[in-house]
Amino acid sequence: MQRPFATMLSSGSLVAAVAAAATALVSCGGGGGGDAAVATSADPAVLASGQQIFRHDTFGDEIFWSDTLKMHTVIEQSVTPRVALSVGLKVDVDALPQGVKDALAAGKVDLDNPQTTLTLLKLGAVIGLEGQVTTDANGVNHLARLGVTCAVCHSTVDNSFASGIGHRLDGWPNRDFNSGAVVALSPALNPAQKAIYSSWGPGKYDARFNLDGQNKPSVIPPAYGLAGIHKVTVTGDGDEVAYWNRYVAVTQLGGQGTFSEPRTGVNVTHGDQDLVTSALPALQAYQLSLAAPTPPAGSFDGQAAARGQLLFQGKAQCASCHSGAQFTDANERLHPVSDSMAEPEVPSAAARSATKQYRTSPLRGVWQHAPYFHDGSAPTLEAVVTRYNARMVLGLTPQEVSDVGQYLRSL
Ligand code: HEC
Ligand code: HEC
Repeated sequence: MQRPFATMLSSGSLVAAVAAAATALVSCGGGGGGDAAVATSADPAVLASGQQIFRHDTFGDEIFWSDTLKMHTVIEQSVTPRVALSVGLKVDVDALPQGVKDALAAGKVDLDNPQTTLTLLKLGAVIGLEGQVTTDANGVNHLARLGVTCAVCHSTVDNSFASGIGHRLDGWPNRDFNSGAVVALSPALNPAQKAIYSSWGPGKYDARFNLDGQNKPSVIPPAYGLAGIHKVTVTGDGDEVAYWNRYVAVTQLGGQGTFSEPRTGVNVTHGDQDLVTSALPALQAYQLSLAAPTPPAGSFDGQAAARGQLLFQGKAQCASCHSGAQFTDANERLHPVSDSMAEPEVPSAAARSATKQYRTSPLRGVWQHAPYFHDGSAPTLEAVVTRYNARMVLGLTPQEVSDVGQYLRSL
């Protein structure tokens, strides 16, 4: 069983082949087309709308997560708050009434009862999950349907209340979220499918598996620090964030709309209404408004970082690709497969992409999101530099490797 999602999706009436008429509505090629008008906006009303979409819009994907995968049933029956937190789901403390916060702090909330999970969903407090919860005459909660939003992977919390419970940090990748383990709870999957999803681990997701049947997840990347970068994804598939937003909303979340990409042959339409296109401008504006976080005070050695900067620009040759304010040459060029220190890998992420190449990763805020490279194969920034040092035969001493590491921590 190679293509569980695709097979499940196409086996139902939920998914139609793309009608010729529909392709005219969607972007194609390098992210232009219908998304070309999507622009950056500083209009507070647009940003507020984009934030709402990023956090709460399911694009009608309940059809996939509930009607097909039956996740609402699993959650109602067996996902306790303890289980939810253990697979990396996060709770937004700002969505909790004071009484719930007090009870939590006093240890009076039952974390081993799925009913509590449903209460949290009813409050809109589980980041990235939108549940339609009803409460019956006996006071028992029921989860009628469940949808998933972008925030489940691209937001986390600051743990200010407790581990996994705090204020939202939009754009920070949720590297604790074990998406595969969650999907593997679906009763609609067979053991072979569950084994693949269960193999992914925390912080990783394969955004092409359901379409090409190949299995090698990437780390969830940050959604901040992307303003001014006109190649999105690690392979630079689109010219604008909205290109990939459409891809994910339709082909991964199962949202209602259309995505068509002649370079990979991906043509997906869900439903006969489009709940994605109209959301794209505000969603993109919000994402582009998310600045990379600055390093915490005292998190790096300033003198070593200054030495590292000189090395980065000189002996270590990093700036030949990590150039400009965002530390990437993405707007000028993409790179051959051999320029990725995650390669050779099987299957190659580039080979599965639209461009077959790699984008130089932007480095602002890089201190925040270990592990590194698209496959997460470098656990620290020093491990990154060590790998470049060996592969590019840079001749950096251990002290110099450390200095470049300190510089990266300062960005
Ligand atoms: C299940 C986890 C998951 C969810 C949910 C998810 N993403 Fe992602 N996202 C990823 C992964 C993994 C990648 C890396 C893909 C790649 O680079 O090939 C990614 C990449 C991206 C990128 C490219 C970032 C860059 O550096 O260029 C954008 C933009 C993005 N996602 C937006 C969204 C939006 C918008 C949504 C909601 C519609 C969403 N994502 C939902 C996991 C997720
Ligand atoms: C020939 C171009 C090139 C050079 C030179 C280069 N890089 Fe990169 N860098 C890339 C590309 C392409 C990627 C994305 C690789 C991947 O994830 O597959 C990347 C990724 C990274 C990442 C991972 C970022 C993340 O989000 O995971 C770091 C950190 C980094 N480079 C630092 C450096 C440092 C430090 C140097 C100098 C020692 C350097 N790079 C030299 C092209 C380059």
